Amino acid sequence: MCIFAVLVFLAILCVPCQCLECPFGCECFGVTRTVKCVSKDLLTVPPSIPGYTRTVIITGNNIHQIAPDSFTELENVTNIILSNNRITEMASHSFSALINLRFLDLSGNQLALIHPEALSIPSSPLQELNLSRSLYNFTALTDLTTALRWGGLGGLLRLDLSGNRLSLLPPGMFSHLPSLQQLFLTNNSLVAVYSGTFSGMNRLEMLDLTHNSFTTFRADALQELEKLGNIHILLGNNPYACSCDIHNFVTWLNESRAQVDVDSVRCASPKGLTNIQLTGLSVQAIGCVAPVPAEMADITLQTSYVFLGLVLGFVGMVFLFVVYLNRKGMKKWINEMRDACRDVLEGYHYRFEIDSDPRLGQISAENSNGRTQGHSGIAFSQQLPNDTCIVQGPANRQAKQVTTSPPVKL
Ligand SMILES: *[C@@H]1O[C@H](CO)[C@@H](O)[C@H](O)[C@H]1NC(C)=O
Ligand SMILES: *[C@@H]1O[C@H](CO)[C@@H](O)[C@H](O)[C@H]1NC(C)=O
Ligand SMILES: *[C@@H]1O[C@H](CO)[C@@H](O)[C@H](O)[C@H]1NC(C)=O
Ligand SMILES: *[C@@H]1O[C@H](CO)[C@@H](O)[C@H](O)[C@H]1NC(C)=O
Ligand SMILES: *[C@@H]1O[C@H](CO)[C@@H](O)[C@H](O)[C@H]1NC(C)=O
Repeated sequence: MCIFAVLVFLAILCVPCQCLECPFGCECFGVTRTVKCVSKDLLTVPPSIPGYTRTVIITGNNIHQIAPDSFTELENVTNIILSNNRITEMASHSFSALINLRFLDLSGNQLALIHPEALSIPSSPLQELNLSRSLYNFTALTDLTTALRWGGLGGLLRLDLSGNRLSLLPPGMFSHLPSLQQLFLTNNSLVAVYSGTFSGMNRLEMLDLTHNSFTTFRADALQELEKLGNIHILLGNNPYACSCDIHNFVTWLNESRAQVDVDSVRCASPKGLTNIQLTGLSVQAIGCVAPVPAEMADITLQTSYVFLGLVLGFVGMVFLFVVYLNRKGMKKWINEMRDACRDVLEGYHYRFEIDSDPRLGQISAENSNGRTQGHSGIAFSQQLPNDTCIVQGPANRQAKQVTTSPPVKL
């Protein structure tokens, strides 16, 4: 009897003891410090997860809410996987006790209500956040935008928002994620990028926009993408409409410094261009330039010659008119020119006479030796006979000053 009572007592002691070791319905792995609660129809996050735990895997359950006290005293947890739990609500400071949390996977849920401070954790340890297929509707997206802003997620490196049927992104949605390196937006319904969509992301290395609803990218979108620098941008598998409107996008693909998956950027329409790679398209192919037939080209050429003639004629008339208006000035100018010419001619004439006079040849040579001897030139010329006149042209004033004969009247 006594032994039986002791055994019962021990059994009663031990059962809760075991529960403290590993939560009901979960498996605990001491070596890897992992707690796994997979497909157990749990309605809440199990309490009493052991303090040594590093990784928590709770998937395939029926947990509707993450409450502020769902995860407490778990300072050693670095990874939490909460995918496919039908979670609809994340309360304020749901994860704020997890001061070492780096990896949070909330994919495959139905989040409709996200508290603005749901993702706040002191000293922002979070590096990766997976919200793939987890946003229930547009309200959830605006909630998330606020939570990303208030969450102090300064250390976040990877964000997965794929498969959320997103058709637009609020401007500046990611502007409070300054460290973000990889952004997955694949498998949504995005139709446009606007200026400001990706503002504030200075460390981005990879942007995945594949499997969306883009038909083209307009100039402001291309500018926004170009601002991201030489990063990897995945744009494949979108229903691009290869009309003239896509011209800017094709040019950007040809010239951008971004590294784009050009092989899978192909036309979805029109029929004649289906599945053609965008980078191979010419302006003619997308119908931006109407083809010019040969006859038309000839006529165009003739027209352009006629036009050229008209322009030249007009320029000539304007020139003549200007000359006519300026006729007094012109007359004066012509007279001055004529005087100058005559001076020069006369100078040559006299020099020829000097050169042919053996007495004066030497003087003339020394005179033309340079201006440094200008004064000696005057001295020599003063010794010349009175009837000799040296005019060296209008440029040499010193020589002109010694002209003894009366100035020539024209
Ligand atoms: C976290 O881990 C450290 C070292 O392994 C340990 O000393 C500490 O008690 C753990 N924290 C909790 C709440 O168990
Ligand atoms: C996010 O989760 C989904 C589904 O669990 C997975 O397919 C995807 O690879 C994850 N994203 C990242 C960036 O690991
Ligand atoms: C999103 O879902 C929630 C919960 O069902 C609802 O209250 C809200 O009105 C929905 N928002 C939109 C834009 O439909
Ligand atoms: C795309 O997202 C939808 C939900 O929006 C999902 O059902 C589908 O499996 C996803 N496809 C891929 C290839 O991830
Ligand atoms: C883009 O580049 C290809 C090949 O380099 C060229 O054939 C095409 O005309 C270019 N398109 C534009 C719009 O620059």
